[in-house]
Amino acid sequence: MTIVGIPTEVKKDEYRVGMRPVGAEILVRNGHTVLIQSGAGAGSGYDDSRYDAVGAKIVDSQEDVWGSADLIVKVKEPQPAEVSLIRDGQTVFTYFHFAADKDLTIGCLERGCISVAYETLTDDHGHLPLLTPMSEIAGKLSVQEGAKYLERPQGGRGILLGGVPGVEVGKVLVLGGGVVGTCAASVAAGMGADVVIMDINIDRMRELGEFMPANCKTIYSDPEAIRDHLAWADLVIGAVLIPGAKAPNLITRENLSLMDAGSVIVDVAIDQGGCVETAKVTTHTDPIYNVDGVVHYCVGNMPGAVARTSTQALTNATMPWVIKLAATNADALAKRDHHFANAINTNRGTLTNQPVAEAHGLEFEPLAV
Ligand SMILES: NC(=O)c1ccc[n+]([C@@H]2O[C@H](COP(=O)([O-])OP(=O)(O)OC[C@H]3O[C@@H](n4cnc5c(N)ncnc54)[C@H](O)[C@@H]3O)[C@@H](O)[C@H]2O)c1
Repeated sequence: MTIVGIPTEVKKDEYRVGMRPVGAEILVRNGHTVLIQSGAGAGSGYDDSRYDAVGAKIVDSQEDVWGSADLIVKVKEPQPAEVSLIRDGQTVFTYFHFAADKDLTIGCLERGCISVAYETLTDDHGHLPLLTPMSEIAGKLSVQEGAKYLERPQGGRGILLGGVPGVEVGKVLVLGGGVVGTCAASVAAGMGADVVIMDINIDRMRELGEFMPANCKTIYSDPEAIRDHLAWADLVIGAVLIPGAKAPNLITRENLSLMDAGSVIVDVAIDQGGCVETAKVTTHTDPIYNVDGVVHYCVGNMPGAVARTSTQALTNATMPWVIKLAATNADALAKRDHHFANAINTNRGTLTNQPVAEAHGLEFEPLAV
């Protein structure tokens, strides 16, 4: 039987937790031991008593969790203080985003753990099912945040996205019509704004045309169309992704002068470097800054703001895998399921993810399955 450990997230402004009480209940019922750090669920509205009631063991410190668990389940990439607690051969199931962090990659290789990364687990449709729920949340939240910062007291133009009869509605430009962009556009259109989604994938724009409402149009993304629409938009959402690469720089600093003062850019793609030249990562505590009169919102972990929704959405997607992992182990599961094998980024000191190896100039060794 497996000892499953849930530490409290230590990254700044992170309120999610790797497992809900119901997840602990299922594992305990299956004969496993669940160790949860006291207070781990509090930021998502699950206090210790909820875990205690289903048979999880509440422990005081992160050392207690990392020191005993065979399988660690968490949310954010291990922070330096956590890396030093990882044990040889321990399985760690979480977001890692190794390509963005060489120190973390080397740290996990040196600690000899099996790093199972949410973000590279695949499915039969070619999607990344443990990333999708967070993209959906970030997309929906991007318009909620953008609408807030368009308010005058927040530094914005003083625009109500939905307008009122006799008054022009707000205009929203969404760069990228994938998961984030489609969710952003749906919320903005639902509020009554005029929405333009730009993408370079014509098939995707064809699909969007089938189901998006009439106040949402698609335009092919090129520098001229972007410039034209920057002059038009009150709110711009950056939602592009080129898998495995830094986000393309679609809005230059010079382009900002095309926008009205008090317009807002929410660059959701900031976690991949951002698609706006003037974008730099911000936090929930200090989410915005102003460049040339344009408000920039560039929070790198947007779903953390709506921790309860995010914890529920994330654990709905991860829990089936946690149950399988606890019942067997990472080696056996990787042999049975190539989608799970794709999630193993480091394996007992070897780097088993090629793009990560290429990103850092480290040696790649395919997973032996
Ligand atoms: N900040 C956060 O908290 C947060 C949370 C979730 C996701 N994200 C990020 O949001 C971004 C989008 O994620 P997603 O899940 O929607 O990706 P996705 O792959 O579903 O969609 C990306 C879209 O961008 C399009 N695209 C690529 N180049 C383009 C260009 N030059 N112009 C216009 N469109 C272009 C692609 O064709 C695709 O349709 C990613 O960088 C992701 O990491 C950030």
